[in-house]
Amino acid sequence: PRPILLTRHGESKDNVRGRIGGDNPLSDTGEIYAKKLANFVEKRLKSERAASIWTSTLERAILTASPIVGFPKIQWRALDEIYVGVCDGMTYEEIKKNMPEEYESRMKDKLRYRYPRGESYLDVIQRLEPVIIELERQRAPVVVISHQAVLRALYAYFADRPLKEIPHIEMPLHTIIEIQMGVTGVQEKRYKLMD
Ligand code: G3H
Repeated sequence: PRPILLTRHGESKDNVRGRIGGDNPLSDTGEIYAKKLANFVEKRLKSERAASIWTSTLERAILTASPIVGFPKIQWRALDEIYVGVCDGMTYEEIKKNMPEEYESRMKDKLRYRYPRGESYLDVIQRLEPVIIELERQRAPVVVISHQAVLRALYAYFADRPLKEIPHIEMPLHTIIEIQMGVTGVQEKRYKLMD
């Protein structure tokens, strides 16, 4: 059976500043992760000639993939992070202070809450459908380098987690989740490449 490897991009400069949304490069730590990931992928998928690397179209995901050589890379807009609309570039503290009602409604129903002029988790889940269809069709391993909200949704699909849990699934940085689909069900392994 062929594995699917899921990982968030390496830590970005906005991750360090606690800002959501945006499109910015990696922090120094994020760059170290990108190199470690490349090492891991090159070893893990050494004899897998048909393997491919799928990223979002955002800089932090593309830069995380960039040290990986020897495999084709495909960019999917559907793998971009949840679009936070008017909250783009804000910290959660700023949202709480300046838009308390928005903050509250999101707390109450994170799955359905849609950012003004942005997306909800349900929107993200819906736009992932073509990616999931294509992932199911692949015969060879795929490495997916994407973002927290998107990976929660993808992971939930493969791990068969209920919809309402999706926005709360733990999806740490600098960790690879390897999913194997076999006849007996889905197996999962985690590789934490950095502390
Ligand atoms: O910017 C989006 C975050 O990666 C998603 O995190 O849905 O837990 O706020 P959150």
